[in-house]
Amino acid sequence: MQILQVDVGHSRYPITIGPALLGDRELLDSQIGGHDLLVVTNTTVAPLYLATLRATLTGRRIAECVLPDGEQHKTLQTAARVFDALVEARMNRDATVLALGGGVVGDIAGFAAACYQRGVGYVQIPTTLLAQVDSSVGGKTGVNHPGGKNLIGAFYQPLAVIADTDTLATLPDRELRAGLAEVIKYGCVWDPELFEWLELNLSKLRRRDPAALAHAIGRSCAIKAAVVASDEKELNVRAILNFGHTFGHAIESATHYETFLHGEAVGLGMLMATDLSHRLGLIDATTLERVQNLLKLAGLPTEVPRIGAARGFELMQMDKKVLAGTVRLVLLDKLGHAVVTGTYAQSALDATLSEYFA
Ligand code: NAD
Ligand code: GLY
Repeated sequence: MQILQVDVGHSRYPITIGPALLGDRELLDSQIGGHDLLVVTNTTVAPLYLATLRATLTGRRIAECVLPDGEQHKTLQTAARVFDALVEARMNRDATVLALGGGVVGDIAGFAAACYQRGVGYVQIPTTLLAQVDSSVGGKTGVNHPGGKNLIGAFYQPLAVIADTDTLATLPDRELRAGLAEVIKYGCVWDPELFEWLELNLSKLRRRDPAALAHAIGRSCAIKAAVVASDEKELNVRAILNFGHTFGHAIESATHYETFLHGEAVGLGMLMATDLSHRLGLIDATTLERVQNLLKLAGLPTEVPRIGAARGFELMQMDKKVLAGTVRLVLLDKLGHAVVTGTYAQSALDATLSEYFA
């Protein structure tokens, strides 16, 4: 079992990573306080893990809110179902929301917890690789708007993150690969050693080797905890965790969230951001090739959909990093290091957009 700490000053919480945590009564009792709990999950995860969680959490009042599965349900309407469940169960300010599922459940449940009675506690219990390495840590919560992804939300830190790695056994291969995209992201923007380790160990991760998964999840969470601790509200350095996301969100939006999983779109976005970094002379051809190869090795899609360069750029302008009309991009200036900048040659961006989107 690995235990890490996130410390953002006003809030400090543990991330526990390991096998069989959902059945660990001592752990859950120590990390999930309070008597009144609302478990938020979805129709896929509930039949797999809800009974185990309920059986471990004895002596509490437990209500459930089982949401429909899918990114298309990450909406205000779905968040309202969580509010309804909290009201129906007559939950007060001392209630705790438990988010049992992937990033979609975690983002919606965290957002509902941030709003209900102006804020009740919540615990993230992530069950996808993507959620265990990224979305459950750091307190970004929210829902999509028809006009763009994650446009409505709040920074609201959980009380704890409990990542039971055994839950990854039931995760479809495609979802596992999508989670690997976010692990590769940390290697690209922060940790050249992790990048090199991934080059050697990706096949083990794809085979779900427990030791390899534990290393990848632990290292990813440690990086995320460090970044979030120095910039909780993404005023500066946290933006590097959006490497590939400006292009990726445009791809997701243009394809109506139907063609690509979030991690897959991020993978395609990282290809484009790396290509642009190379065109701008920030990284050499070897670095470009190593990133391209690693994404291929992870089994992620490498064909960017031809959404049109102008349409792609229009969608990128809805990104939350846009400031005073300038699209700020996360670019690599070496392997394991990123910069966030609004100052780049537009001709280079146009070339990347034409190469991939046109
Ligand atoms: P997801 O939540 O849709 O889960 C993927 C699929 O796996 C779903 O069908 C889900 O029901 C299923 N599933 C979950 N756990 C399972 C298990 N153990 N076994 C079998 N099936 C299981 O997708 P995701 O990739 O976890 O998260 C993507 C979302 O996370 C996006 O909405 C993205 O915007 C968000 N996100 C948020 C942050 C953040 O910091 N808050 C960071 C990255 C991504
Ligand atoms: N996933 C990017 C962030 O949490 O900042």
